[in-house]
Amino acid sequence: MTRFVFNPMGTTVLITGASSGLGAAFAREFASRGADLVLVARRLERLEALAVDLAERFGTVSTVIPLDLTAPDAVNTLVADLRQRDIQIATLVNNAGFGSYGRFGALEPQRLHNEVQLNVLALTQLTRALWPELLRHARTAPATGAVINVASTAAFQPVPFMSVYAATKAYVLSFSEGLWSEAKGTGLKVLALCPGPTATEFKQVAGSEGVSFGAPQSGAEVIETAFRALDRRSTPPRVVSGLGNAFSARAVRLVPQRSLLTTLGRVTNPARRASR
Ligand SMILES: NC(=O)c1ccc[n+]([C@@H]2O[C@H](COP(=O)([O-])OP(=O)(O)OC[C@H]3O[C@@H](n4cnc5c(N)ncnc54)[C@H](OP(=O)(O)O)[C@@H]3O)[C@@H](O)[C@H]2O)c1
Repeated sequence: MTRFVFNPMGTTVLITGASSGLGAAFAREFASRGADLVLVARRLERLEALAVDLAERFGTVSTVIPLDLTAPDAVNTLVADLRQRDIQIATLVNNAGFGSYGRFGALEPQRLHNEVQLNVLALTQLTRALWPELLRHARTAPATGAVINVASTAAFQPVPFMSVYAATKAYVLSFSEGLWSEAKGTGLKVLALCPGPTATEFKQVAGSEGVSFGAPQSGAEVIETAFRALDRRSTPPRVVSGLGNAFSARAVRLVPQRSLLTTLGRVTNPARRASR
């Protein structure tokens, strides 16, 4: 039998954005490692179908909570629900997020508000609300709990025409690395997961189907990267998924900012893409 350094067996893991893509892939991996789950997203049917599948395959107990995390007071509602059900969270996966592709001035203000609300504020508020119990759990059972924040390779440089999205992910990376340091010695693992392009519903939601930054990874590959980092005795503050992505994340630091932004702007410019 495989022995993992990170062993969430018998604990409860809360995953936001579990109805598709990386969130659903996280749910499958945690279920295969014997964890119970709290699955959060807006699409109830998707969450219920996933819960049934995981129960059949792994005997997982899943609590399904349909919720729009951009709604006012959503995080308080979620935490109150957990308290009422007497559910203690050992691992938090802040995965729900979306992007918006297009000229900044053409994107709906409400959509941008929701993007920041979900990618930044809900993530921060939920982490803050659960932080004391995450630490409490980790102190009694080290290496069985974690905070996993899904950032992006977009965190490493601005992305013209997805400027808000990249800025939210830069926040997620910085925030997570600060917490990694604060959690040192507590037994709680903190990891910023930085995927590059990944085959999920992300592009469809962002409206960026025409933009390509290279061959996408599968969700399973990204999750494998995350768990390889979690299975290290000393989990790093961040992990980039895919060798090519890891190389690019380092290389952008070496290119003068003006040249980098000009090149990126050419690659992502919607007008240029439309004229091809
Ligand atoms: N795919 C990529 O290329 C890529 C690359 C780097 C980073 N990421 C990051 O990876 C994370 C997961 O995205 P994905 O690629 O798996 O895309 P996805 O398939 O579109 O999944 C996004 C998830 O977020 C949930 N969500 C969206 N808005 C929500 C809201 N208002 N309230 C609650 N849940 C909400 C969605 O569920 P509902 O619609 O049911 O609410 C869905 O489960 C995101 O943070 C994204 O920024 C993705």
